[in-house]
Amino acid sequence: MSEGICRKTVRAEATVIGNEALGSGCFVVTLEVPEIASMIEPAHFVMLRGLDPGFPYLPRPFSVFDVSGGDTEATRIEILYEVVGSGTAAMARWTGGEKVYCLGPLGRSFDTSSDSSHSVFLAGGIGIAPFPFLARRLKTPPERQILLFGARSKSALFALDRFEALGIDIRIATDDGSEGRKGNSVELLSELLDELSPSTPEVFACGPTPMFKAAQKVVVPRGVPTQMSLEERMACGYGACVGCVQAIDDPESEDGWRYALICVEGPVFDAERVLYTRPVPTDS
Ligand code: FES
Repeated sequence: MSEGICRKTVRAEATVIGNEALGSGCFVVTLEVPEIASMIEPAHFVMLRGLDPGFPYLPRPFSVFDVSGGDTEATRIEILYEVVGSGTAAMARWTGGEKVYCLGPLGRSFDTSSDSSHSVFLAGGIGIAPFPFLARRLKTPPERQILLFGARSKSALFALDRFEALGIDIRIATDDGSEGRKGNSVELLSELLDELSPSTPEVFACGPTPMFKAAQKVVVPRGVPTQMSLEERMACGYGACVGCVQAIDDPESEDGWRYALICVEGPVFDAERVLYTRPVPTDS
């Protein structure tokens, strides 16, 4: 998979247009930044840093939730974020009109060229972020797009209205059983694959590492094409700090595997390439 890497990255000053609270510490901030919005593809990310006093010095990476504005090209990007530290807490105080440092688009987007009969979005928590935009970019008819959303509880389910508006089938799993199935999104995936068999959908996944590890065990043995958008802490976002490595399968490397920079070669990888346990050398 070589598609999706954005060859042109722009540093821009964005303007905060709105900052909507969704509950459970999650927000959607809308930024006016036409020079970046017009190039964004699903799962591309941007590095953001507030220019207001007191904002932490290092920018933070955020997947783009959706794009909007403009008759022919997008002029705005929306970022779904959860308050987890000082940077996101500062973002939650934006009310509109603030100027923001924005670097992007960065990384490799989802490959949207699939002609599978069904598309499945496997989301864990805030990992739901890239899917509204992806759903609109895919060729799959909305009635054959299925969101499998796993969250801690009913109160941590957000943005479902976006998927309802697109006519997407939504299936929920919560850890405490307060909404949908008591369990996780990978259990929903396993059931769905049985339900759709012998058809094989294309799966797009975004969420925490335990979700990816569990999903790999379901999709790889069945040969289900699956793209995973990995989450990682990122200091630079463009390959300079070497702080976001992931072991991946690579038949052309001497040992059959190597480390990849998630910010440059990812965040999207084919599921069968991601190695959560490094292969043991066969001889010495
Ligand atoms: Fe710096 Fe990836 S975030 S190399």
